[in-house]
Amino acid sequence: MITAYDFPTALLADECGIDVVLVGDSLGTNVLGYDDVSQVTMEDMVHHIRAVARGIRRAFILADMPYHSFQTNDSAFENARRLIDNNAHGVKIEGELDVVDRVKFLTERNIAVCAHIGYTPQTKGKKPSMQGKDAPQAQELIKSALALEDAGACMIVLELITGQVAGEITKLLHIPAIGIGAGALCDGQVLVIHDMIGMTDRTFKHVKTFGNAREVVKKALYSYAEEVREGVFPSESNTSYMPAPVFDEIKQWIEKNYR
Ligand code: KIV
Repeated sequence: MITAYDFPTALLADECGIDVVLVGDSLGTNVLGYDDVSQVTMEDMVHHIRAVARGIRRAFILADMPYHSFQTNDSAFENARRLIDNNAHGVKIEGELDVVDRVKFLTERNIAVCAHIGYTPQTKGKKPSMQGKDAPQAQELIKSALALEDAGACMIVLELITGQVAGEITKLLHIPAIGIGAGALCDGQVLVIHDMIGMTDRTFKHVKTFGNAREVVKKALYSYAEEVREGVFPSESNTSYMPAPVFDEIKQWIEKNYR
């Protein structure tokens, strides 16, 4: 699973065999320049899901339910329906025992729901923190994961959970457990695309940077600006011309009307 927020990234993810494309609310901080994921609105999500869906032929499109979009069963259903009507295949809800009823309500109404436990940025603050470090926390996470599965969740994201606890949760569940900063024992992995392609200068212990997009883009932009300033770009090969007799005609017309 990888995040994508736009058409070209979705096309590439789909083409490269990614199974699930997540239009995460990390959209807010990675693309929209918000301070916080909690600022992401339903309108933002709908706009970006539609763009992503245009690039997907094969992958499952999962959409985050924004902060405050699932406060009641009715609002959760209405908003989840809206995301699905705008081409998401399923929705993701952050929360633990507090969202079990919500997940049940949606799954009973045929909405595919991915649960999301551990570090949940919508409610646990901007600073990522590792979860499941002591026995009571680990027990809470295990109970939540099982309750969310019972409520009908079709998969679960385990974010920033200690490796052993994530491994045990994965073994106990029958649905796929997708880890991010939760070690190698999960069934699958998810990363934020901007982090894993090196588009930002942020570094996190749980992320491996598989590319150097920031440097590639910066190098291209520096070269472009320099070549335009120095008159190197556009060159003859980038320029198209009208036939010479037509241009002669235009020149005569300019001469007559404007000189
Ligand atoms: O919004 C997001 O990108 C996410 C992932 C970190 C799982 O929820």
